[in-house]
Amino acid sequence: MNSSLYPNPLLNRLRRNRKNASIRELVSETTLSASDLVYPVFLMEGKNTEEPIHSMPGISRKTIDLFLEELKEIVNLGIRAIAPFPVVPESKKDSKATGSYDPEGLIPECIRQIKEAFPELLIMTDVALDPYNTDGHDGLVSDSGEILNDQTVEVLCKMALCHAEAGADFVCPSDMMDGRVGAIRKALDQAGYTSTSIMAYSAKYASAFYGPFRDALHSAPKAGDKKTYQMDPANKLEALREVEADISEGADIVMVKPAGPYLDVISNVHSTFPIPVAAYQVSGEYSMIVSAAENGFIDRSSVILESLIGIKRAGATMIWTYFAKEAAILLKK
Ligand code: PBG
Repeated sequence: MNSSLYPNPLLNRLRRNRKNASIRELVSETTLSASDLVYPVFLMEGKNTEEPIHSMPGISRKTIDLFLEELKEIVNLGIRAIAPFPVVPESKKDSKATGSYDPEGLIPECIRQIKEAFPELLIMTDVALDPYNTDGHDGLVSDSGEILNDQTVEVLCKMALCHAEAGADFVCPSDMMDGRVGAIRKALDQAGYTSTSIMAYSAKYASAFYGPFRDALHSAPKAGDKKTYQMDPANKLEALREVEADISEGADIVMVKPAGPYLDVISNVHSTFPIPVAAYQVSGEYSMIVSAAENGFIDRSSVILESLIGIKRAGATMIWTYFAKEAAILLKK
């Protein structure tokens, strides 16, 4: 750029492109629409019941019947994808996470019911053991407290197959074990599910922003933390290695998570690899915005849209967000 073209700074009036709403829309570099959003939801067993989640004001755990009623509105708003997460009763958890591949479990059941009512809505299921595991870890835990990689991958393959059989469009490994994307791809292909997609949580950081989610699912680890498998927040090059590995193993979409504090990572992944990038605006990001707005410190609607456009501007192709429905309503206005 030749800045000497404009010797007098007043000739270069950048404000002309901001003069009115029509010009601002004309020159806008980033767009946000309902079809960019994935709606994560918390489902529980039973009928006609809903429980507010204390640390996520406005979000509830719901039984499938209640969620199906809400779905009509969600689909009409133009949201194309949902991500169901199961609240598993303590009595159905064990140390081998066997509930994770039970074909009669909550997730396969909800996939079947949702697909029957809304065949076009995409269902993206989480593949990780934490909600089903008494230890609360994403992998199997050895007697000495180690998270076992290869043994976990075997269970993850069963879980992914169980979701594919029920009709999931995407299985989304969020466990951060090594080699799981390739193993899941192979298991799906061998069983004939060559069209079931994989969205890999590729650059998933060991983040304190997941706190409210673990509260929602009662899935916090009983001992230790997730730092031997989730990434160190200090690292950015390592995210590219994780993404590269997942792409080479067959991921269709890669994810960066959380979103807001990791915009540089989203940007790097987007500019380095020719693959769609999902970003997950996680539970803690949601709750921070909601609680600041409830205190009157910030304007809720504006901050929601600004946080989402920022994530898209960084390079995200799609955004997982608990604000999906609210944002879709705001975008309609
Ligand atoms: C499970 C999983 C987690 C989230 C999504 N999938 C929690 C974790 O890894 O501890 C977090 C989502 C959120 O905070 O909104 N592996």
